Amino acid sequence: MSCHDPKVFFTDPDNKEPTSEGIIEGRFGPRNAPTLMYNLPTPPFHFDKAEGLFKGGQFVDGRARTTVDQAKGPPLSPIEMNNQNALEVVEKVRSASYANLFRRVYGNAALDNPAKAYNRIAEAIAAFERTPVFTPMTSKYDYYLQGKANFTAQERRGRLVFEAEDKGNCAACHPSRPDNNGAQRPLFTDFTYDNLGVPKNRPIPFINRLSSSIRWAMAMWIEDWATMCSCRAKMASSKCRRSAISRKRRPTCTMGISKPCAA
Ligand code: HEC
Repeated sequence: MSCHDPKVFFTDPDNKEPTSEGIIEGRFGPRNAPTLMYNLPTPPFHFDKAEGLFKGGQFVDGRARTTVDQAKGPPLSPIEMNNQNALEVVEKVRSASYANLFRRVYGNAALDNPAKAYNRIAEAIAAFERTPVFTPMTSKYDYYLQGKANFTAQERRGRLVFEAEDKGNCAACHPSRPDNNGAQRPLFTDFTYDNLGVPKNRPIPFINRLSSSIRWAMAMWIEDWATMCSCRAKMASSKCRRSAISRKRRPTCTMGISKPCAA
């Protein structure tokens, strides 16, 4: 089963478990597969000096800079597609029905060098994600902004609550109005990161069903510093010590940032 099924807007169709199952049965990741839609305008991960915060990037924690970088992750992740290395992925593409299409775009030697081929596979996936299939802009809200649809009375009240600073104030983080004199349509995200203080979701199998040693190995992979650093035996690791230090200095923002412990 795909984790990004086009039939359900490129999300995980399995809604029995709170997070997604990898190719190995029973091995669940700590996060659910997100939709791949409306990702095109996401800028590469960067520090916005004017605003003083991190912006853009891929994955919930921004640890991949671009969609090309992102596409290299899941095929090798033990909690997702679990290939041992790039060569294993490239070999699968070599024997796939579309291998020749691939060679037509990248040349006859496209799949010969595993490292180069792996980059090209990621580029091809990212190119597909840039097609209009992923950004149809066909919601009622899009049509409303173009003057082609009207709100019901309830929807109008809802938008007031959503935007009012003394009510929901959702638009503070989920911009709802066109930008740039109407040129940029709102996608309800400002591409930044916030610590929302959401507590641990106990039913997540990653939290309650994996042995601590497997969880530790997985945490290394996904850079889940909370799991890594809470494991006392591992506190000896220099990365965790540095993480603990940076957490003391900046109590709220060690988790959302890629490699928070880097000195
Ligand atoms: C302080 C900034 C902030 C405010 C204010 C805020 N949100 Fe969010 N919201 C976020 C962040 C960050 C996420 C992503 C959480 C995650 O995926 O880890 C999010 C996620 C969501 C999602 C899930 C989106 C998805 O793709 O799964 C919805 C729906 C949502 N917020 C609605 C609201 C509503 C409604 C309000 C107002 C009542 C609101 N938010 C106020 C920051 C905010």
